[in-house]
Amino acid sequence: MRSRCVVAPKAQGETIRKKLSDDGVLRNDLKVTHDEEFVYIPVGGGGDTDAFDNLETTERDFEEIDRIGDYKEFLDLPNDLSPLLPTSFDVVGDVYIIKLEDGLMPHSRDIAGAILKAHSNAKVVALDTGVEGEFRTRKLDIIGGEERTRTTHKEYGLSFDLDIAKVYFSPRLATERKRIAEMVRKGERIIDMFAGVGPFSLLIAKTAEPEIVYAIDKNPEAITYLIENIKINKIKNVAPMLGDAGELAPSLKKADRIIMNLPHSSLDFLDVGLGSVKPGGILHLYLISEYDEVDGLKDRLDQHATVNNVQEVHTYSPSQCLYCLDLLTG
Ligand SMILES: C[S@@+](CC[C@H](N)C(=O)[O-])C[C@H]1O[C@@H](n2cnc3c(N)ncnc32)[C@H](O)[C@@H]1O
Repeated sequence: MRSRCVVAPKAQGETIRKKLSDDGVLRNDLKVTHDEEFVYIPVGGGGDTDAFDNLETTERDFEEIDRIGDYKEFLDLPNDLSPLLPTSFDVVGDVYIIKLEDGLMPHSRDIAGAILKAHSNAKVVALDTGVEGEFRTRKLDIIGGEERTRTTHKEYGLSFDLDIAKVYFSPRLATERKRIAEMVRKGERIIDMFAGVGPFSLLIAKTAEPEIVYAIDKNPEAITYLIENIKINKIKNVAPMLGDAGELAPSLKKADRIIMNLPHSSLDFLDVGLGSVKPGGILHLYLISEYDEVDGLKDRLDQHATVNNVQEVHTYSPSQCLYCLDLLTG
């Protein structure tokens, strides 16, 4: 569908999207899209008329999205509870994952039933009660649909078989994985230090022509699914490695590019990452930071390598964001 949109430089995409949403002009029925340099954020009329000051706008075609609000039409809740209903959820394959405020807990089964009715793709509705442990797995309670957490998730033409209760996976990183894969040049050696079931590694192997991607993870379940996913997608140049990246990465020949997607403790592995990359190589360091502290963090990291880009990946909490810092080593 054709729509007016704001053209935002990639690194500021999430900040601008958030502001447009706060100003009431973001279109929630259309998918944000991007190219190498810019993010295109669909906007409508209404809302704050100053919202577009100093922003470039254009017109473009957008993909329509399955409207998240639809499930509310199948619910009959007391008026004071409706504003607490979730406005977003993670969809992994046919498993719909939601978080609920305490006040909604007595109605969790009704909410799950409404989601199953509103979304024909939904077969399981699971309540997310938090990510835990070093394997970063979600604690899930099934509140509707089939009693399972194993599913097949599709992303950029790849299929991922995974059990969302036993391995980490976030569909919200899809655009970020594409950004990284698009940077890879033919013949690169890559180490994906915290690979999970392989979404970064497999996309790179499928779309770029790396010499090899070493995909390390400490969770045996993640490596079992990774091996399965390599087979399903007929991928050749990904080498799965089960173990601690802190020990395995230094045993490999130095890489052109390192991916460190362990946002809560990636800084603990920074020395290993820097020691495993060639001079002139790139290290993608994921971390969670307060919005107003990321500049200080960048300055600190600039002492180890040149921070080429600070990418906002997605909002983590009202005051925090998941960032990727792209470090160029000297
Ligand atoms: C945030 S997840 C990222 C997974 C994957 N990159 C993705 O995008 O889906 C972090 C992963 O690191 C793994 N992990 C945690 N500590 C590790 C370590 N010391 N060595 C290797 N893997 C580790 C966890 O099991 C988990 O799969």
